[in-house]
Amino acid sequence: MQVTVSSGNNIYGTLVLPIFEGTDTIGATNEGIPNSLNAQINRVLSEGDFKGKANSTMTLLGTDGGKAMLVGLGKEADATVHTYRDAGASAVAARKKVHGSEFTVNFSTKDTAAIAAFAEGMMLRDYDYDEYKSKDDDDDDADLSTRINCNESDVETLGAAVERAAAIAGGVHLSRDLGNCPPNDMYPMAFAEKAEAWAKQYSNVTVEVIEYEAAKRLGMGGLVAVGMGSARKPCMVIFTLNGDQSGPHPVLVGKGITFDTGGISIKPSPSMDEMKYDMGGSATVFGTMEALAAIGYDKKVVGITCMAENMPSSNAQRPGDVITTLSGKTIEVLNTDAEGRLVLSDGLWKAGTDFDAEYIVDFATLTGACVVALGHEATGLWSNDDDFRTRIHDAGNDVGELAWPMPLLPAFEKEMTDSKIADTRNLGAGRWGGANTAAAFLKQFVPEKGEGDDAKQVTWAHMDIAGTYWGAKTNKTVGHGATGVHVRTMVRLITGE
Ligand code: BES
Ligand code: ZN
Ligand code: ZN
Repeated sequence: MQVTVSSGNNIYGTLVLPIFEGTDTIGATNEGIPNSLNAQINRVLSEGDFKGKANSTMTLLGTDGGKAMLVGLGKEADATVHTYRDAGASAVAARKKVHGSEFTVNFSTKDTAAIAAFAEGMMLRDYDYDEYKSKDDDDDDADLSTRINCNESDVETLGAAVERAAAIAGGVHLSRDLGNCPPNDMYPMAFAEKAEAWAKQYSNVTVEVIEYEAAKRLGMGGLVAVGMGSARKPCMVIFTLNGDQSGPHPVLVGKGITFDTGGISIKPSPSMDEMKYDMGGSATVFGTMEALAAIGYDKKVVGITCMAENMPSSNAQRPGDVITTLSGKTIEVLNTDAEGRLVLSDGLWKAGTDFDAEYIVDFATLTGACVVALGHEATGLWSNDDDFRTRIHDAGNDVGELAWPMPLLPAFEKEMTDSKIADTRNLGAGRWGGANTAAAFLKQFVPEKGEGDDAKQVTWAHMDIAGTYWGAKTNKTVGHGATGVHVRTMVRLITGE
């Protein structure tokens, strides 16, 4: 969607009017609206036909003054930027062919943050995954264009905010494209090739691919064990933004299982197709790198994506195997369906040892248990640093992507390190607290920095996006499929804006 910001009152295409609950006439907002359309709008408002309930919409047609779509904002006293973002998204979701592809939005508020959030919601929601649909003449896939009318003095501020939101939405949409891509076309090396092609657009990014043979040679036992059962071999893809900068920098790590059958511990068939989203963590990392590059972020950030396909085969790992990971620590693999933590063990270790990590954040569709705990409404958030966990929680709240604090308890660590024959085990003793035991397992692979008594584990947070990366029906910014969640959280955390 092309969004332009303008100080005129001209209306092009369908007029979009965000309306608070209880509004019975449009006053300040009505500049430039033809009389007949204005009268029609005021009639539905004064008669209570449109009540302004949050995210409700009504389309007005038939006068010679053009078309309008009213969008509810709910009660004015409750309105936040999230209200506006959702309302913008709801307007785009309600768009039908009759509205055409051009919109003009008139606001009653002069609050630029609110206006920018509405535009952001429109852009985020303007997404379809139709790569695999044959086109016919009835398809309406015209590019949308939206004009935002505002005060002359706000044009510059709003223009910059909209441009930034558009760049970040591009990162969110990239993450969704990767997540929605069917698993016959999205496999580890396909992801790597997309990353390499992407890197060509920017002079300040590089992509390094550690292929299967190199991963074996380097001792990436977790990545290799998960991926070796598939004909499509695993790889690690490392994204670097502004690699010429020195000093501590964020390192993002992604779980990238391009399809999770469970392996020999095979999953039941119903809904197994959803396991194409099991690379959502890596898609989040890739999408964040794109968003940061597109806004022109000039500090160093590294992304490590651990790509593998988890398949049963004669070459697959077995329950009972003991593997040696990049860290040198061993894992007793008791269930091959708990594979995300195996690939992440290598990614986290690499993040903390090969880079000057200011902090590490990993993203993973890691456990069904996290979906049981938090549904599709909030990501599970664990950290070895309470302040850092709060910073991520706050960044998520700021952008409307909830990440809920979860406990990293010593008891869970003990449970995951009491294998009789190895340093760790990839399965808890029972099914209880499965999202917490998974997080406690990951913690074993976050390296320490410093010597002796000064040794301290690198600041790290784990985000379990099993419930939020897809299937989030109440997320207004997405129709269906991959959500692209946490690209915006990370941009907020990393840039502070
Ligand atoms: N990819 C799944 C987790 C998942 C489940 C993501 C549902 C999205 C929706 C993960 O690899 C897995 O299978 N985890 C197991 C772990 C168990 C064997 C300890 C699970 O959650 O059942
Ligand atoms: Zn699994
Ligand atoms: Zn998985």
